Amino acid sequence: MPEDHFGERVAERYDGSSADMFEPAVVDPVVDFLAGLAGHGAALELGIGTGRIALPLARRGVRVHGIDLSEAMVARLQAKPGADEIGVSIGDFATTAVERTFSVAYLVFNTIMNLTTQDEQVACFQNVAAHLESGGCFVIEVGVPGLQRLPPGETVRAFAVSETRLGFDEYDVVAQGLISHHYSVVGGKLELFSVPFRYVWPSELDLMARLAGMTLRERFGGWEREPFTSESAMHVSVWEKTAAPAPEL
Ligand SMILES: C[S@@+](CC[C@H](N)C(=O)[O-])C[C@H]1O[C@@H](n2cnc3c(N)ncnc32)[C@H](O)[C@@H]1O
Repeated sequence: MPEDHFGERVAERYDGSSADMFEPAVVDPVVDFLAGLAGHGAALELGIGTGRIALPLARRGVRVHGIDLSEAMVARLQAKPGADEIGVSIGDFATTAVERTFSVAYLVFNTIMNLTTQDEQVACFQNVAAHLESGGCFVIEVGVPGLQRLPPGETVRAFAVSETRLGFDEYDVVAQGLISHHYSVVGGKLELFSVPFRYVWPSELDLMARLAGMTLRERFGGWEREPFTSESAMHVSVWEKTAAPAPEL
């Protein structure tokens, strides 16, 4: 089982520290997009967390099931109104089985990168394919690796600098690894929260999808179907389950 980086200390502050991501202007386009793909079927969220997307999606009438490693994050979800409509399995979303199928599965907010090896990311696509109905879709929202902004020889880039918050991404370009260091001033004290990631290229995700019997249907630069261009800092990609997974060599 992968290490849980979203224990009690992170879970109790998650909604507050990500408050901008809970704004209707951010959440509504995600929910519109996913509800459209779900149709009359059910949705599976990998890394459901405290329900930022799952709860409003369920309020739209979509049946939602989630998988998450963190009991602390899920406890926050389950304390919210409407959570009794949502089933949750505690486990690793790369391997956990849920006894039903879905018309859409989704993995948002860069969470594919929480799987820190290529093997785990490949396993995640295979696990999703096993849970999708034929023609069902897998949606990922993830940043484009920011290597164009990393000068040669440098390994660290700041992503947040304010009086109360400092954030640095530390790259390992050999292992395709990234550690995000978050420093926050909380109650006059400096707190550190560091999470390891594996950054992943869009084309690499397409290949993982192909291995799992899915093909790219659409790729956008945002949830409002903005074009994906060389300037896009993130992408929303949709793969469709089209075939049996590629045979192992
Ligand atoms: C950045 S949070 C996103 C939560 C929610 N999807 C959202 O958009 O607010 C990442 C979540 O994924 C969960 N997670 C990370 N790696 C996981 C894994 N391998 N299996 C299951 N859950 C995982 C964490 O516990 C956390 O709740």
